Amino acid sequence: MLSLNNIRKAYRIGPTEVEVLKGVTLDVANGEMISISGPSGCGKSTLMNIIGLLDRPTSGSYAIDGAEVAYGDDDALSGVRNRSIGFVFQQYHLLAKLTALENVTLPLVYRNETQAAMEARGMEMLRQVGMGARGHHRPSELSGGQQQRVAIARALVGQPTLILADEPTGALDTQVGQEIMALFHELNTEQGITLAIITHDPRIARQCKRVAEMHEGVLKEQFVREGGGHP
Ligand SMILES: Nc1ncnc2c1ncn2[C@@H]1O[C@H](COP(=O)(O)OP(=O)(O)O)[C@@H](O)[C@H]1O
Ligand SMILES: [Mg+2]
Repeated sequence: MLSLNNIRKAYRIGPTEVEVLKGVTLDVANGEMISISGPSGCGKSTLMNIIGLLDRPTSGSYAIDGAEVAYGDDDALSGVRNRSIGFVFQQYHLLAKLTALENVTLPLVYRNETQAAMEARGMEMLRQVGMGARGHHRPSELSGGQQQRVAIARALVGQPTLILADEPTGALDTQVGQEIMALFHELNTEQGITLAIITHDPRIARQCKRVAEMHEGVLKEQFVREGGGHP
């Protein structure tokens, strides 16, 4: 599904060029749940931005479902991004003026669907993340964990190939973070949703079936757990 081959990314700062990604090769198959962890500054967000088609590599190749995507123009990249990738962020990024349901259906606005169909699908997603009773609440009326559940429903609603989560438990206390990880496990094992979870927290990282660690721009596979990934 995802295939990154020898991805490099360099930033020019004044006269010097700093190579942040030093040849990352990574294949993620349909239905996997992988964590990418490592210390601050090692290049995780840089890699996430490339996987999420928010940025382009300096060299290397990247294919989603067999189609090369690394070097498209902005329109092409955003088209593939909208169809293929659902994002979950540390700070939820919900729109304060919209209800939970309106936030969830937002990614569907540019698809040719009726309002009724969008709302039905949005409610289905909210139920899936345990928020079926909160569709008409605004983000300010929800706890952090509930807001993250709504954000996960929004990421799922367009039926993406991949959910990409950047520090999804970073703003939550340990208990609520565990509940979010349990939800990710459920989505992965019961619905086959493919997940890549970026985290600096090794306790979160090692709950995934597949664990990769980044160190100074080099990605190393740690392990693939046999039969399931629950802690
Ligand atoms: N736009 C940029 N221009 C220059 N340097 C950058 C830019 N983005 C990130 N970097 C540098 O790349 C390195 C990795 O950053 P980042 O990918 O954000 O790491 P992480 O997410 O693992 O903390 C850091 O040294 C950072 O300063
Ligand atoms: Mg980062």
